[in-house]
Amino acid sequence: MTKIFHKPMTNTQNDTSILTSRKIALKILLCVLKEGQSLSSLIQLTENIEARDAAFARMLSFGVLRFYQQLQALLKPFIKKPLKSKDLDIQLIMLMAIYQIMYTRVPDFAVVDSAVKQVRKSRKKWAAKMVNGVLRNYLRHIDGKDPDDVIKEIALKEIEGEEAVFSHPQWIINKLKKDWPESWREILTANNKQAPMTLRINLQHIRADEYITELEKNAEVSGDKITGLPSVLILQQARDVKQLPGFSKGWFSVQDAGAQLAALILQPVEGDHILDACAAPGGKTAHMFELQKGIQITALDISASRLQRVDENCQRLGFSPSLIVADARAVDEWWSGELFDKILLDVPCSATGVIRRHPDIKSLRREEDIDALVELQREILVKNWALLKPGGTLLYATCSLFKAENEQQIMWFLQQVDDAALVDLPEIVTELGSQSKVSCGVQLFPVDGRSDGFYYALLKKEHL
Ligand SMILES: C[S@@+](CC[C@H](N)C(=O)[O-])C[C@H]1O[C@@H](n2cnc3c(N)ncnc32)[C@H](O)[C@@H]1O
Repeated sequence: MTKIFHKPMTNTQNDTSILTSRKIALKILLCVLKEGQSLSSLIQLTENIEARDAAFARMLSFGVLRFYQQLQALLKPFIKKPLKSKDLDIQLIMLMAIYQIMYTRVPDFAVVDSAVKQVRKSRKKWAAKMVNGVLRNYLRHIDGKDPDDVIKEIALKEIEGEEAVFSHPQWIINKLKKDWPESWREILTANNKQAPMTLRINLQHIRADEYITELEKNAEVSGDKITGLPSVLILQQARDVKQLPGFSKGWFSVQDAGAQLAALILQPVEGDHILDACAAPGGKTAHMFELQKGIQITALDISASRLQRVDENCQRLGFSPSLIVADARAVDEWWSGELFDKILLDVPCSATGVIRRHPDIKSLRREEDIDALVELQREILVKNWALLKPGGTLLYATCSLFKAENEQQIMWFLQQVDDAALVDLPEIVTELGSQSKVSCGVQLFPVDGRSDGFYYALLKKEHL
């Protein structure tokens, strides 16, 4: 087969290090798919191995989760009897192999060989012959074909054809089709691409131009700016943050370009007391301080461990928000009685706008989660609105692509209260380009490669 697309890397590892990487990748995949843990929380499992092996383990685990629905459809016709759920590990070893065959430059014979060796080294030696047979059959079947044609062919045979082509669960595809009849294909395709590493340059320390010079000199990498968004720098290649100049000195943080709009929209001014009600891990909290040192921020989150990360991130940058572990809805338990000038509600959501960076969302999120999230977002919005000063502004933000969590939520809220008015968003918001006209607020799509998907709506509290 001529392999022609999405080729992330060639493998130059030896047998032992390949097996180490594959073992860790398998562990990560099992923790996500069996135990529902998030991929980002598991990446630490790659920290104590050689950098090259860690990169390979990450590539395999991200790759399999990114193309999970598609890889399953590709494998299905070659499995005579469906595997039992206790043998998910064997299925995943085969999916890792099919991912490598379809999307990497590792030679096919080496892929099959290492998959079979991995099974032989496990407690399920009985499966080695089956894995060998299935993968060799698969290779015979696709020999000489273009990978895109292989996917189309499988998709035609499968009832779940769209799942195979777009590699998303059908419920997400259906919801996007309904909400965005003109853009759903483009969104799904973009969700399967790898996102760039984007920095937020701390303009209190250094300008983006100066930082590019530092990068080119000290890290042999360059970055691209976005007009109108002076803190955004999109790296041409991802790097470990610790290898980039000035990380410990607080010169930059890692944050998507779309996420950097929140603080710019809220525009903190000297003397503001701002509530960041769903603050962890603190990217937006810190950005507000970078824009204006003379403010006070109350940063709240329901998760103590996640709030700890707000503390760490702010400490590195030299900022000190007041930290509160609490449920944003239970205002009686944590609110001091002083109204806020501004409120940021970056509410928990389906996270369907950040699938590029978190492909596990496609396997972890369930359709029935959405109604519960919509209800939670409403409660947070209603309860926190009462804490805003008349004349103050509240920014509602999600990283969702579903209208139910976004514009429909704001339309609903505007009908519930009579002291809220929509505020036009600053022009800077249009700089990111890939947006759709919505009845209120702005919806960013993850399609032009520069930004994840976000929704923002700015509300002002009227003096009644
Ligand atoms: C989208 S994330 C916030 C990201 C953050 N603003 C940033 O820019 O780094 C949503 C956060 O809401 C928190 N959360 C979920 N339910 C909550 C609740 N009822 N009250 C307060 N925080 C909550 C989650 O723990 C999570 O950290």
